[in-house]
Amino acid sequence: MKMHFSPAALVLLISALSSPTDAGKCPKMCSCDGAKLTVACISKNLTEVPPTVDEITLKLDLRNNNLRELPRGAFTHTPYLTHLNLQRCNIIIVSEGTFRTLGRVVSLNLAYNKIDVLYQESFDGLSSLKELHLDHNRIEEIQPGAFTQLGFLNMLGLTHNQLVYIPNMAFQGLNNIKWLRLSYNSLNNLAHEAFAGLFTLNRLSLDHNELQFFPTQTMNRLREVTRLDMSFNPMTYLGEESVSMAKLTHLYLDHMSLQDLSDQALSGAPQLSHLDLSHNQLRNLEPLLGPKELRSLNLTGNPSYCNCYMRPLRQWASVRRVKLLGACAGPPHLSDEPLQAVDPQKLRCRSRGETLKDEFEREDERSESALPTAKPKPKVKCPANCDCDADAQHATCEGRGHTKVPQGFPTKTQLLDLRSNHFHYLPANSFRGSGQVVSLHLEFCKIHEIEGGAFQGMKKLYYLYLSDNDLTSLEPEAFAGAPELTYLHLEGNRLVQFPGSALKLLPSLFVLHLERNAISKVEPSGLLSSVTPKLRELYLTNNTITSVAKGALDSAYLGILHLDSNQLTEMPTHALSEAASVEELSLSHNSIRWVGPNAFQPVSQSLKRLYMDQMGMEKMSQDALAGLGPGLRALTVRGNQLEELPDLSPLSGLEVVDLQDNPLLCDCSLLPLRRWIENITLEVIAICANPPEIRGQKVRDVKVFMSCPENVSPPDEKVVVVASGGLSKVKKPKPSLSKTPAVKAKAKAKLPKAAKKKPQKKPVSSNAKHSKKIL
Ligand SMILES: *[C@@H]1O[C@H](CO)[C@@H](O)[C@H](O)[C@H]1NC(C)=O
Ligand SMILES: *[C@@H]1O[C@H](CO)[C@@H](O)[C@H](O)[C@H]1NC(C)=O
Ligand SMILES: *[C@@H]1O[C@H](CO)[C@@H](O)[C@H](O)[C@H]1NC(C)=O
Ligand SMILES: *[C@@H]1O[C@H](CO)[C@@H](O)[C@H](O)[C@H]1NC(C)=O
Repeated sequence: MKMHFSPAALVLLISALSSPTDAGKCPKMCSCDGAKLTVACISKNLTEVPPTVDEITLKLDLRNNNLRELPRGAFTHTPYLTHLNLQRCNIIIVSEGTFRTLGRVVSLNLAYNKIDVLYQESFDGLSSLKELHLDHNRIEEIQPGAFTQLGFLNMLGLTHNQLVYIPNMAFQGLNNIKWLRLSYNSLNNLAHEAFAGLFTLNRLSLDHNELQFFPTQTMNRLREVTRLDMSFNPMTYLGEESVSMAKLTHLYLDHMSLQDLSDQALSGAPQLSHLDLSHNQLRNLEPLLGPKELRSLNLTGNPSYCNCYMRPLRQWASVRRVKLLGACAGPPHLSDEPLQAVDPQKLRCRSRGETLKDEFEREDERSESALPTAKPKPKVKCPANCDCDADAQHATCEGRGHTKVPQGFPTKTQLLDLRSNHFHYLPANSFRGSGQVVSLHLEFCKIHEIEGGAFQGMKKLYYLYLSDNDLTSLEPEAFAGAPELTYLHLEGNRLVQFPGSALKLLPSLFVLHLERNAISKVEPSGLLSSVTPKLRELYLTNNTITSVAKGALDSAYLGILHLDSNQLTEMPTHALSEAASVEELSLSHNSIRWVGPNAFQPVSQSLKRLYMDQMGMEKMSQDALAGLGPGLRALTVRGNQLEELPDLSPLSGLEVVDLQDNPLLCDCSLLPLRRWIENITLEVIAICANPPEIRGQKVRDVKVFMSCPENVSPPDEKVVVVASGGLSKVKKPKPSLSKTPAVKAKAKAKLPKAAKKKPQKKPVSSNAKHSKKIL
């Protein structure tokens, strides 16, 4: 066996051999099996890979430690590893070249860590790898070329991450991939060439994402895929030729929101044998054209209505021997009858005069045996002065002058739109019988009081819009009985206090809008973590907040915090002392003149976007941004009174920076800024205001710095001068770039905007999605 050692590895090896504690070369805290050549150091709170692992080790299990960052060359001393387990190691960064010496590893497990970006060379060297587990991380970005070295990989697991978008060629290089698992992300967009080059892929899991449309173009590239799982995506409709995949045999489209499916939707999937359409909203389905091999069609959990419109499907299934799974949801005399068992002759439309027992499904009046040429349009019960659409499960009484909440909507209604009426007061049990409503609109209803229990019984309520009413306070029981509420809009009211006590009844609250109220203080009673532990986004823009009490916003989960357009005079650092997940913080339009040292220390590990425009800021301490590093992607301090700036060079991951409209004093104290501007790939607009003779010139152009001591800045003919204003964005990389991952990230990133930033779970879009679903 020929061995190659780096000198460093040799030193380690020698020290391992001579280590007194180590009879069988087993690092202390680990257990070693010399016969099987395995080493396990599980749950030992290790902060680095033990350097004394025997170099002939084949399996190394480091589960449950605290490694945080995997440096380059972390495994140089164990070149024979075949299995490496790094699950639950608190890993945030995998440096480029970490695994470069591990050419024999076949299985690498990095699940349950905190990795957010996959860099271009993170997996270099793993030339034998067959399985890579990256599930349960925080990956939002896959850099082009991340996987190019993994030519033998069979299975790539990326489930439970935060991917929103897959760019073109993201998986290039996976020449032997069989199964790609992307379940449980937030994917809403796949580039047409996202899966280009995956010629061997036969199984693709995309379930539990946010795809609203079947990504036909993208999927067409996958000629070898036989199993595709798309379940749990919010698709409402599958049009003609949506699926065109020559070898597809198993297709999972269950638990979506399908209202309709064209009979030609699967015409390009001739080999399809199993189609799962369970748990959708399909009332009936026509015989499917295209799949000649279909064996099973699962319609379980659909509101299948067994009347004459179902007969063609039923007859087709018998002739073709397609097994139909599922049961009739109506009419009453057939309900719960298995589709497979129901006699086609019984699938009729009722004749005139027959009693209409069914609550919703009043049939149209065609003769009973005629097969339909158009779909039936059932009429439904609906309160006066409202419109209800039973198929769409949608009811609206918008702007109809109601002074009381109308009663008697169809019980299946999911979207109830009551905006722009004049309710003034919502008494308890205002929405009796609306137990299926998911989205309730009560904007512009002049509501000034909500009685406890007003929403009682709304067990499925997920979105509640109370914006632009006249609420001055909320009773503690105001939201009783709606425990699933996730998105709450209270912006544009007159609330004078943070409604902490009312929010205690909302354990699932994820997004809270309180913009444009009259809240002047956020007090400790509003301690987020005890009130709404899952709150992720909090919008307090445009209140009159003068102070935020210590710890008031502490919450391990809070990710987006908008405190802009308030009356803060100090940095709310102490309010965030335990808010270690904040990624976006907006403080613009307050009057904070001074930003002291360590102002962002509590959120320095998580912060990605920091906005501090128009605050009248006169000075930032040299250490104001201490702790912030490559993780910060956006920084704006536009329109302040800053004459100088702290050193920005640690912020090597910036993609957006706005320093405009500050009266910068261009003398030697600004030299670090000048050098930084010259050194980075961003176009930074920074203008000198003083001394007067160079007022209006760009910091990067002025000559004053030539005379400063230790100025070694090169002539800058490479610099592109920007003429226009606006935010500075990523520009072409300069050839002299360093190779730090972050800089490379910028240079290589060609992702569209959407890919870089996870769209906030804005109720608007979620609601759009929802409306779509039930329209
Ligand atoms: C793990 O190590 C860290 C620092 O290395 C220490 O702060 C922490 O208390 C340790 N935890 C346990 C459970 O030993
Ligand atoms: C049909 O769908 C139901 C509900 O999703 C599921 O439990 C069942 O296993 C499926 N049956 C088959 C044969 O796929
Ligand atoms: C704040 O609210 C006031 C009154 O509603 C409005 O005129 C102003 O434009 C708002 N400012 C911002 C920044 O939204
Ligand atoms: C310029 O960039 C390189 C690489 O990022 C870095 O090492 C160096 O310190 C930077 N110089 C200045 C003056 O910021």
